Amino acid sequence: MRKNIVAGNWKMNKTLQEGLALATELNAALAGSELNCDVVIGTPYIHLASVSAAIDTTKIGVAAQNCANKASGAYTGEISVSMIKSTGAKYVILGHSERREYYAETSAILNEKVALTLAEGLTPIYCCGEALEVRNANQQNAYVKNQLEETVFNLSADDFQKIVIAYEPIWAIGTGVTASTEQAQDTLAYIRTIIAEKFGQEIAEGTSILYGGSCNAKNAAELFSQPDIDGGLIGGASLKVEDFKAIIDAF
Ligand code: PGA
Repeated sequence: MRKNIVAGNWKMNKTLQEGLALATELNAALAGSELNCDVVIGTPYIHLASVSAAIDTTKIGVAAQNCANKASGAYTGEISVSMIKSTGAKYVILGHSERREYYAETSAILNEKVALTLAEGLTPIYCCGEALEVRNANQQNAYVKNQLEETVFNLSADDFQKIVIAYEPIWAIGTGVTASTEQAQDTLAYIRTIIAEKFGQEIAEGTSILYGGSCNAKNAAELFSQPDIDGGLIGGASLKVEDFKAIIDAF
């Protein structure tokens, strides 16, 4: 079902104690207020259980930032989706450009991760987005279409309706350069169009599509006012309660 969602991605920041302090501060800041969006925080793995226990998870969903591409077994250092689920987390961020680029995550690996996440009943927040040279060549639509066709467009219609899409142009991530409202809206509208071509209009209208990349307290309201932007995946600005709450309040 289409929802407005503001999802934080803490990336590899915060010790356990700092993360717990951030999560409990956010929890207190949101307590008692009516929210016009779902709120999610994507913490490092080791924070998941403690953060889930410390906050009202009916108000703030907890996400892992990755998962193993195997269900269980002899995979030293890996974390399975069933382990993530056992912490109380409800989401898994998958296909972030930093994982594709620095950890060589391919479409084949991502297909395994999406399938395992869905099999455990958790919600994948599936990221896509192009590099600067692709945008400069005006090939972003073809690039993103290919990323989706190689992965989540292979899901059944039933499963596709369980995922959230996040469009994050790589050139806007952590750079302070936000895609213009028009660029973000145009690409998200395009993504919705190709979802409609693949799965039909009703499913396209029901899909939550987020924008990510230097979204902050100042630009969130304008971005979220666009017809196809259903929220944001927020990196840097999710590390301060004041900023993250202002983005939540932009809805
Ligand atoms: P940013 O990161 O908000 O710091 O640009 C977004 C993301 O990578 O999810």
